[in-house]
Amino acid sequence: MGRAGRKAVAERLPQLRKDWRLDFVVVNGENATGGMGLSIGHSKILFEAGADCVTLGDHAFDQRDMMKGVEEDQRILRPLNYAAIAPGKGARLFDAANGKKVFVAQALGQVFMKKPFADPFSHLDQALKAAPLGKTADAVIVDFHAEATSEKMGMGHWLDGRASLVVGTHTHVPTSDTQILPGGTALQSDAGMCGDYNSVIGMEKMEPLRRFVTGMNKERFTPATGEATLSGVFVETDDKTGLAIDVVQVRQGGRLQQSGPA
Ligand SMILES: [Fe+2]
Repeated sequence: MGRAGRKAVAERLPQLRKDWRLDFVVVNGENATGGMGLSIGHSKILFEAGADCVTLGDHAFDQRDMMKGVEEDQRILRPLNYAAIAPGKGARLFDAANGKKVFVAQALGQVFMKKPFADPFSHLDQALKAAPLGKTADAVIVDFHAEATSEKMGMGHWLDGRASLVVGTHTHVPTSDTQILPGGTALQSDAGMCGDYNSVIGMEKMEPLRRFVTGMNKERFTPATGEATLSGVFVETDDKTGLAIDVVQVRQGGRLQQSGPA
């Protein structure tokens, strides 16, 4: 989320990769540029910090140059149920640094979203057929970019046993339902943002408050600039099945309570 979020990722991710021996890192970058979309330039900062894949979201193309960026850099994914004519891809099989294959897919939810996106459940069903977990893919990561926790928990159960991790993004607020579902899929309904939490979901708080209280707009939203908390989810997978054997909520720096792998 904005400059504060980019800084937290750039400063903290290289060390996290080392300390926790991370094999593969997915960063949701959709609000990394001024809180609206992601520019090509800022995607490079996330990759240099150690991201293997960057996902977007409903704001995928708020920065115009991402129309080109998502075609030029295959490591960037936009939601697979975005407009059919949108550039780029919504899912892809990646080679992790340790030689394993990691399939990443992103889909948009339908509940409380501004646009009526196509059914994410059937789209993910179709996408996951290309890389079955424990066969073609050693790990499957699904970024479900959606507003409602109910829809995100539902997606976790729908994909239980077919993905290593279903993690929600989009609300900017981390949830505390981190768990491994009965079929072996790790779930956290929202990863939260890498951003300044002395804010309203990452935005400088005065203008959002003004709009809530008075119903009137005065200024544009601008990202809050205090120290960011890096928020995310760590998952360890079984070498044979690709299912989760451990999942931990990650929070480092900034105002939120800290947590992460021991
Ligand atoms: Fe979003």
